[in-house]
Amino acid sequence: MELLKDRIKKDGKVLSEHVLKVDSFLNHQIDPELMLAIGKEFAERFADEKITKIVTIESSGIAPSVMAGLYMKVPVIFARKRKSLTLNDDLLTATVHSFTKNETNEISLSKKYLSNEDRVLVIDDFLANGQAALGLVEIVEQAGAQIAGIGIVIEKSFQEGAQLLKEAGLRVESLARVASLSNGEVSFVNENVEELV
Ligand code: G4P
Repeated sequence: MELLKDRIKKDGKVLSEHVLKVDSFLNHQIDPELMLAIGKEFAERFADEKITKIVTIESSGIAPSVMAGLYMKVPVIFARKRKSLTLNDDLLTATVHSFTKNETNEISLSKKYLSNEDRVLVIDDFLANGQAALGLVEIVEQAGAQIAGIGIVIEKSFQEGAQLLKEAGLRVESLARVASLSNGEVSFVNENVEELV
């Protein structure tokens, strides 16, 4: 998605060989117009999948998911990372370990919002090692629902997440695929070249 890649080039900050900071439009301050365009792009890519629900994880997955839900006219459910005062019974849970942050969270979502009739699109802001996405897939499967695919705003293709999800037979659509963050520069996967391989 060229609009997103241009914005990453313009406003993204490379913090290290592994970390890209996009706080000015995605992870802290949010650009609603860009989120709207991202939502439209997800809706178009998954148009044939008969999606009934979008599942994401708090907090940065929520904005792009809500915009996709707006276009697809389906509800958005976000998994919580912390215990909620009101979300206390009949929970679906999965344990997610973040290698980046070196922390483990139990993520949870209420059983009542997913059923075995749902076809779910999982959306997240970043795909690094794939652990959050795999945790969300596990929760959706616990509900007996089907996974239609995974929509990612920024994939760091040099980490193993995308490969793990594809190996699990999942359709992954990433709007920007970062090939490397070396030398303080963002370079993207050349999709045209890859298609020929
Ligand atoms: P994984 O789920 O793919 O295995 O990812 P990982 O554990 O590495 O990521 C943990 C958190 O760090 C996630 O946010 C993820 O979005 C974020 N993250 C990973 N790589 C980057 C990066 O290069 N840049 C930025 N800005 N974030 C990255 P989180 O803790 O869930 O935060 P939030 O959703 O509440 O913002």
